[in-house]
Amino acid sequence: MPILKPGTLEFISLNVEQTARLGSRLGEILRPGDIICLSGGLGAGKTAFARGVGKGWGAVPPVTSPTFTLVHEHTRQADSGRLFHVDSYRVAGIEDALSFGLDELLLDRHPVLLEWPERVAPLLPEERLDILFRFEDSERRHIQFEARGERYNELLETFRRRAFGA
Ligand SMILES: Nc1ncnc2c1ncn2[C@@H]1O[C@H](COP(=O)(O)OP(=O)(O)OP(=O)(O)O)[C@@H](O)[C@H]1O
Ligand SMILES: [Mg+2]
Repeated sequence: MPILKPGTLEFISLNVEQTARLGSRLGEILRPGDIICLSGGLGAGKTAFARGVGKGWGAVPPVTSPTFTLVHEHTRQADSGRLFHVDSYRVAGIEDALSFGLDELLLDRHPVLLEWPERVAPLLPEERLDILFRFEDSERRHIQFEARGERYNELLETFRRRAFGA
């Protein structure tokens, strides 16, 4: 059951499909400029969730793991919107992140999904949606949403209603 507390939401996902569906509900309501930070260890479910977000948003091609290229750019048919999926796992440091323009990407008017945000912490805006994935067992994942700033409180409330009807 989701825990009801303003600005936060906690959930136990029982399988990968559930995690993706949750992502999809979020993807449907993303707006240009929204920044979603996905934290958690290897295999915790960040990309599974991001894939769902992409699907809900309408991304073409589907969002996959960006491990070998740091930035994946997606478009959708509905409009000329773009969505960026970034994996900072292999970012060597802030200079490296700046060299591929992460700072500008975070200021752009496109939604950004960012895996391993802690690797680029100094570049993160204060206002964002943090989502933490924690491994419980082979299939269960604890997912914690934390809204930072007014836009993200609103986003999380809309998400909560759409995903859980609560
Ligand atoms: N409830 C669940 N939610 C998400 N993934 C799950 C769940 N149960 C099992 N899995 C499996 O865990 C793995 C999650 O992998 P994923 O690539 O999403 O992790 P990640 O957090 O992006 O890791 P990395 O840091 O390596 O990019 C997948 O193989 C998926 O099938
Ligand atoms: Mg990943």
